[in-house]
Formats: sequence, C-alpha cells, structure tokens
Amino acid sequence: MDYRHELSRLIDIDGVSREEIEKLITVPKESDNGDFCLPCFRFAGLLKKSPVVIAKELAETITASDTADFLSNVEPKNGYLNFYLDKSDFNRRILKKVLSEGDAYGASDEGRGRTVCIDYSSINIAKPFHIGHLMTTVIGAALYRLYKFLGYNAVGINHLGDWGTQFGKLIVAYKKWGDEKDLENRGIRTLLDIYVKFHKCAETDDSLNDEARRWFKRIEDGDPEAVALFDKFKEVTMKEVDRTYKRLKVSFDSYAGESFYNDKMQPVIDELQEKGLLCDSDGAKVVDLSAYNMPPCLILKADGATLYATRDLAAAFYRKKTYDFYKCLYVVAYQQNLHFKQWFKVVELMGYDWYKDLEHVAFGMVSMEDGAMSTREGKVVFLEDVLNRTVEKARAVLDEKSQTLENKDEVAEVIGVGAVVFSALYNSRIKDVVFSYDRVLSFEGETGPYVQYTHARCTSVLSRAEITENVDYSALDNPDAVAVVKAIAAFPDALSDAVRKYEPCYVARSVMAVCQAYNKFYFEHRIIDAAEPQRNAMLLLTKATKQVIKTGLTLLGIAAPDKM
Ligand code: ARG
Repeated sequence: MDYRHELSRLIDIDGVSREEIEKLITVPKESDNGDFCLPCFRFAGLLKKSPVVIAKELAETITASDTADFLSNVEPKNGYLNFYLDKSDFNRRILKKVLSEGDAYGASDEGRGRTVCIDYSSINIAKPFHIGHLMTTVIGAALYRLYKFLGYNAVGINHLGDWGTQFGKLIVAYKKWGDEKDLENRGIRTLLDIYVKFHKCAETDDSLNDEARRWFKRIEDGDPEAVALFDKFKEVTMKEVDRTYKRLKVSFDSYAGESFYNDKMQPVIDELQEKGLLCDSDGAKVVDLSAYNMPPCLILKADGATLYATRDLAAAFYRKKTYDFYKCLYVVAYQQNLHFKQWFKVVELMGYDWYKDLEHVAFGMVSMEDGAMSTREGKVVFLEDVLNRTVEKARAVLDEKSQTLENKDEVAEVIGVGAVVFSALYNSRIKDVVFSYDRVLSFEGETGPYVQYTHARCTSVLSRAEITENVDYSALDNPDAVAVVKAIAAFPDALSDAVRKYEPCYVARSVMAVCQAYNKFYFEHRIIDAAEPQRNAMLLLTKATKQVIKTGLTLLGIAAPDKM
C-alpha cells in the first residue's frame, strides 16, 4: 500500500490535484506529530482561509468518512493535518507485503527502459590494486546492483588504465631484470619491483628512457614481441585482480579500457578542430576553458600523443553511441574533480546536450590507521592484504567466541570481507576515512559484523519454532515492534534515495536501523516462550527482518551468514 497515495485520496480541495496533494504529504520530523502530515499553508490563498481553519475542516471531513479505516486518528495542528496510522493494520500490511514479495521486496521497475553506464574500479594494469581502489570498487558495484534492482539496465564498465609510456618502461625493466617464475608467483608485486628499479636506474642512465620510448612505440605499431609482453602484464594483473573481485562479489559487463580507444580518438579530435575548439599551446592542442575559470583541457601533446582526457572523451562518445545511456556515472576519487569538470565542459562546448547526463560520483580518501598509504614511497597497501588480515582477525574472534561453529574458515571470510565492504559503504561517500581493523570488526558498533550477527540471530530464532496459520498481530501493538516495522517499511524509499543521490550509504543505514530496532525488540520481548498466536506474529516480524537484512546486504555485496 502506498500511504501517500491513499491519504491523498481522502482529501478534496477544489483547484488542487490529487498528485499535488500526494507530493505535499511528508513524514513529520517528530513522531508525536503522526506518521504522515499535510502542510496546509499552500492552500490559504486559494481557499481564502487560514491554514489552521483548513486543517481543522479537512480533519472533520475525513473523520466523518468511513474510507479511512487504516488510520487511527487525524489531527489538525498548527496549520498541519497530522495522520496517525492504525498500528495493527500497518504492521499486518507491511509484514504481509515483505513476506509475500520475499527477495523482491524493495525492487521496482522505476528504471524501465533506461540504461545507466557505471565506470568503476577502473584499475591500472601492472599497478597495485590498493586500498585506494576500495571505495570506487564497492560504491560502483553497489550502485550497479541497486540500479538493476530498480529496473534499470545497468552497464558495469572497468575502464582499465592499460595505456601509456609506462608499458615501454616495464618491457625494458622486464627484459633486464624480469623472471618468468617470479612474475607468475608474485604477479603485480614483481612488476612493481622492476618498475621501481627502472626509475632508480633511469635517474643516472637516461638511455633507459629512450629505450622505453622505443618499446612503447613498438607496442603502438603492433610489434609481436612488444604486444606479447604487454598482453602478459595485462593477463597477470587481471588474474590477480579477479581474485579480489570474486571475494568482493564484483563483476563488470565491459573491460574496455584506455587502449580500447586508440582508434576512436581521431574523429573526436577532428570534430573539436572543425568546431573551432582546439587552440595551439606550445605545439600542444588544448581546449581553452579560461572563460569557465579552469585550466585548458589537454587533448594532444606536442609530440602528437593523446592524453587521459582525450581517451575519456572518446569513451563518452563510444558509450553514448553503444548504450544510448540515460546517465553515465564515473565513480572516481575527488582528486580528479577538475579532470571531469574540464572534459564534461568540452562535451558541452561541442554542443551535446547529454553532457548533463555525465556524472562524476566522487568519493573521499581511505588512509590506514598506522599512516601507511603512500604509493610514491612504495608503501602501498594492497587491498588483498587488508582483506586477508581482516579475515584472519575475524577467524581469531570466531576461535574464541564460536567454538562449536563448523565452517569457521568460510564464515571468517564472509565476516572479514563483509566488514571491510560495510565500513566503506556506511558513510556518505565524500568523507575521508581512516581504516581501523578493530573498528570495522567490532560486533557492537555500527558495523558489518553487527548486521550479519543480527541476520544470524533471526535465523536462529526462526529455527526454534514453526510458524503456523494462527496469528495474533496484537502481539506487535507495542512501540518496540512498531519501530521494527517502520524501519522495514522505510527500506524501499532508502533504495530509491541511494540511487537518486548515488549514495549506497542510504541502504547501509536503512539496514542498520532495521537491525537496531529488531535487537531492541528481541531483548525486550520473549518470542519463543509466548503462546502460539502471539509467537507467530513475532516470528513473522523476525522473518521480515531477516528478509530485509539479507536483501540489503546482498545489494551492498555482502554475504548474510545463517550462523556465526
Ligand atoms: N585508472 C584511473 C585511476 O586509477 C581511473 C579511471 C577512472 N575512469 C575514467 N573513465 N577516467 O586513476
């Protein structure tokens, strides 16, 4: 039942449409003021009456009608019309809805016919998949699942950083110091080591840089040896990265990265030229953005080489043509704010209205509690190491607290990885965060393990008694139970909000609210010992809670264990 819609049907005001009324109905900040309210100030001019009188008259008409059996009270107050839902009716409706819809509770088709491209994770080949990639990977993947759940056609794109002169350097380094066995065993770490070594040596021996340029040119020209090595670096990186993607339950529909656009930039460059947007700047070609208070957007270097922005422009045109997107999101750290502002502007100056559909979904930085996180000094924190260490710590907790648990390794994996993901998705994305193993793993704070534990608690409660037909919903006529149902009822709106603001934290927070309300209920009320009809109502509440936690966690990419 859509309460706003039903409420709007109770109200007749000449000259105001149902839709308008529906839009005006909101949830009051204070629960003392009802479950919904209609501010009457807007109608004062039209009806030539004060809002106080309007609210009073509307309340009288509704109270006199018998169509409002889902309300317990309607009360005019200070120019507002406050609606109080009949709690038993509300509880019954919401629980029935959740339990009949099951895994589809919260899903919708609001996005039907719309395609959303999401560019996320977008790692760099031969570079570490480090803690800095955590946010883009899990925020992007959560948005991807959310869009799908709301009926959109989502396209997940890993815009691989697989182009640039560094590949020439890597080939030189690999040929000098590389070892196939070592590369197989240590993967990206080997590539990182020889890359660092290259830079050290090139400081004193500039001929290495010339050699690297020649090798890069050979990749560009399609020389078989050069391409084979380039492909090998890519393969090694992807193999390693896929391991982490699997653990994070992250996948992509396309891995079209920077190199994919090698042959797709020229038409864009030509068009920029034709439209008179390219200027010369010391031999380089740029789009002047001084009128918009931005530095110029670099399109071609003096030696004719293309840039990061050139590739992003070509990619945007390719995506528009291929997917005809409704929106194209870029889940990338706020450090790249300027880059996106610049080339979005270029698309606008080219005269394409869809520049408005390009969206930089920026997020803050993750640093480690002990201060480790500097790529330059080689103090890289690999995401895989963070996951391993969190899982190890989760395993130690299980050894201590859950001695009889059977599949401890599996559960530790799910708790450890889930803890990291949940912590990344719990705060508004733009915030910088400091990662702490102890904090993300705490079973008491607002954490992944706390949510998973609540899910396991629901499973355990449900395993102790069977639900029969004989249900007395009045067992839920108390503020603790109503609070759980209210939190459950708010879940679908949290999903739409999350998508509208590109903020998966709305989902995480909604799930947290359900858990907190349920745990309060659980500690204050005896479920299993109650008489059958009352117990059944409480078990149904437990079942609906479990459902919402499971759906929420799944959308965030986190497993919901039944035991832990
Ligand atoms: N590979 C880039 C980096 O690690 C991120 C790419 C983001 N996507 C894009 N279309 N620019 O910084």
